[in-house]
Amino acid sequence: MSDKATLQYNGNSYDFPVIKGTENELAIDIKKLRASTGMITIDPGYKNTGSCESGITFLDGEKGILRYRGYSIEDLAEKADFLETAYLLIFGELPTEEQLSKFDQDIKEQSHVDEDVKKILDGFPKSAHPMGVLSSLTSALIAFNPAFVNVSSEEEMYNAIVRILAKFPVLVSWALRKNKGLPLDYGDNSLGYVENIVKMMFRRPNQEYQKNQIVIDALDKLLILHADHEQNCSTSTVRIVGSSHAGLFASLSAGISALWGPLHGGANQAVLEMLEAIEADGGDTKKYMAKAKDKNDPFRLMGFGHRVYKNFDPRARIIKKAADEVLNDLGVVDPILDIAKGLEKEALEDQYFVDRKLYPNVDFYSGIIYRAMGIPTEMFTVMFALGRLPGWIAQWREMRLNNEPIGRPRQVYTGANLRPFVDLGNR
Ligand code: SDX
Repeated sequence: MSDKATLQYNGNSYDFPVIKGTENELAIDIKKLRASTGMITIDPGYKNTGSCESGITFLDGEKGILRYRGYSIEDLAEKADFLETAYLLIFGELPTEEQLSKFDQDIKEQSHVDEDVKKILDGFPKSAHPMGVLSSLTSALIAFNPAFVNVSSEEEMYNAIVRILAKFPVLVSWALRKNKGLPLDYGDNSLGYVENIVKMMFRRPNQEYQKNQIVIDALDKLLILHADHEQNCSTSTVRIVGSSHAGLFASLSAGISALWGPLHGGANQAVLEMLEAIEADGGDTKKYMAKAKDKNDPFRLMGFGHRVYKNFDPRARIIKKAADEVLNDLGVVDPILDIAKGLEKEALEDQYFVDRKLYPNVDFYSGIIYRAMGIPTEMFTVMFALGRLPGWIAQWREMRLNNEPIGRPRQVYTGANLRPFVDLGNR
């Protein structure tokens, strides 16, 4: 197999190196394209363009494969917990007991959030979408942790990383509790990372906290499944903002905003709203399938399709199975789950969806579990952000340690050519 690709244009030939990844993916290295040809490439949505070489997550969209640092998502969802998966993504290896214990302890030591952050939260109307609140509060943390903005050494990065892993769940629980009119509380450092999140989110001020292991285990698995997904929209946002050395917290705040969109992480909320609309419409899935296929109708079947997966999203398989188990264990009967399964069956047999290789993605079933856990629909994408946090951190850290250049794409200009200025009176 050749290690170079040749471009022929206007009677000239240009050779470019071809690089091969550890999973045999091939890429044409065009770093010198403009210098040698005077031309650039153009690829809206970067469907064919690699932004970086990365050792964190591997996807095979045709085979429906997802691995974090070489470990299959199926193994990690079954055998790991979220904190050790976070360690694996960020530092590249599964932690030893000693490493995990130190990581957990370093995080616990930083699990307070300045009381003045509550004053910022107070400024938001109760109706504020929690993703907007979370992006703002994450950016606000910069002001309360100034020493952890301009980090460049591995040690400084570690200190910034444990701080945000500690404080982000507090902000998530505060966003939920604000939404529900509950007092803003702190966690309990005697608990595990995910159990502490559940307690912070759901503890009632006037009731003894009741541990629900089903909810804890379900959330732990969901967070693992959302933890990273290579160069998706929000992760690419974190990397490009971080490439200007804007700092970790600012980069994460930007990533939260990118994830909010209904074509990306916001889809889990949009799926539930779609399923509820179908239920309200008498369960008429055929009407919504027709809308999804109608080119004149902007409606899309939320939770279906994916830029990379042209087969089942492996996470969707795991979440679908978990949805049955969790609802059964919690004794929840939710007609929405039956509507979802009916819609999935129809879509998988529909030629339009088959031709376009549109399968359920990670967002199709996750909201059903969140709903069974008592999480409000508007918080679903916040839960996605909570899961994706270690992946964003890992990708930001890799980009900074690799000293990658500031991200600055080119364009093809299609506007007006040079023209003389016309005074106001003559226009
Ligand atoms: C996530 O990138 C990641 O890794 C993201 C993510 C992660 O973990 O970070 O996996 C999380 O964002 C999952 C995706 C969640 N979004 C949704 O469920 C929203 C609904 N899905 C679509 O909007 C769409 O499938 C995208 C945005 C996910 C992908 O869009 P692409 O890759 O740009 O594909 P496309 O728009 O070019 O679609 C190709 C064809 C088009 O039809 P034709 O023009 O060829 O006739 O498929 C059609 C589209 O109209 N199509 C759909 C559809 N998705 C694509 N038609 C109906 N319903 C859909 N959901």
